[in-house]
Amino acid sequence: MRIGILGTGIVGQTLAEALDTGGHEVVVGTRDPAATLAKTEPDMYGRPAFRVWQEAHPDVGLGAFSEAAAHGEFLINATNGAASLDALRAAGEENLAGKVLLDTANPLDFSKGMPPSLFVCNTDSLAERIQAEFPGARVVKSLNTMTASVMVDPRGLGDGDHTVFVSGNDAEARGSVKELLRELGWTDILDLGDVSTARGAEMVLPIWVSIMGALGSPRSNIKIVR
Ligand SMILES: NC(=O)c1ccc[n+]([C@@H]2O[C@H](COP(=O)([O-])OP(=O)(O)OC[C@H]3O[C@@H](n4cnc5c(N)ncnc54)[C@H](OP(=O)(O)O)[C@@H]3O)[C@@H](O)[C@H]2O)c1
Repeated sequence: MRIGILGTGIVGQTLAEALDTGGHEVVVGTRDPAATLAKTEPDMYGRPAFRVWQEAHPDVGLGAFSEAAAHGEFLINATNGAASLDALRAAGEENLAGKVLLDTANPLDFSKGMPPSLFVCNTDSLAERIQAEFPGARVVKSLNTMTASVMVDPRGLGDGDHTVFVSGNDAEARGSVKELLRELGWTDILDLGDVSTARGAEMVLPIWVSIMGALGSPRSNIKIVR
């Protein structure tokens, strides 16, 4: 499948690697491909520059947000939550229309330092804001509740015995996302229903941040026992 991933960060890179390895044709989107390729230094977390990463993944393309979105039959939003609407505007409504848009972004607000708060919650969510601004896109929130390495290798943590949530208005789009999740190794996929259920999935983040602090590691996940 042709997949467009909006976002060059660790989530974009990690999903791109897994989906490329899985045989998909992946193009990653960025604001300015030349500027992204010009960076050679690791980021503030010590993660390698996109250029260094891409040298090890030569089959993965890089383009402007609009090029990645035009390429994909299936799209993934892996941009900074505060910038997701801008990134999707740059991708172009016409390139989103009719396509599944798997939204992994979180509405984190770091403006008051750590821990971050949520800039939208309770009665609204980032996924709903995206769906409202781009009614032609088939938005499905998922994979936002665990760290990038667990997204693509659930079995590497507790033998995969933990849960991933799915929220979106379009049942067929939720089905496409579930299929991709199964490809990545997920077995406990909990379909929460329409896109408003993304409020809860995004509000997991404050406790997720606390759990990461308590464990001293981002590698944990929620298991829904039932
Ligand atoms: N890190 C994790 O393990 C993890 C886990 C679950 C969910 N998430 C969520 O996944 C998303 C991606 O996280 P990340 O850590 O990989 O990367 P990130 O640093 O949050 O986001 C990087 C991407 O956001 C784009 N961006 C930043 N500012 C922008 C702006 N003003 N306008 C347009 N685009 C802008 C960047 O564009 P350029 O390419 O042009 O620089 C880049 O592609 C976030 O929403 C995060 O909350 C992360």
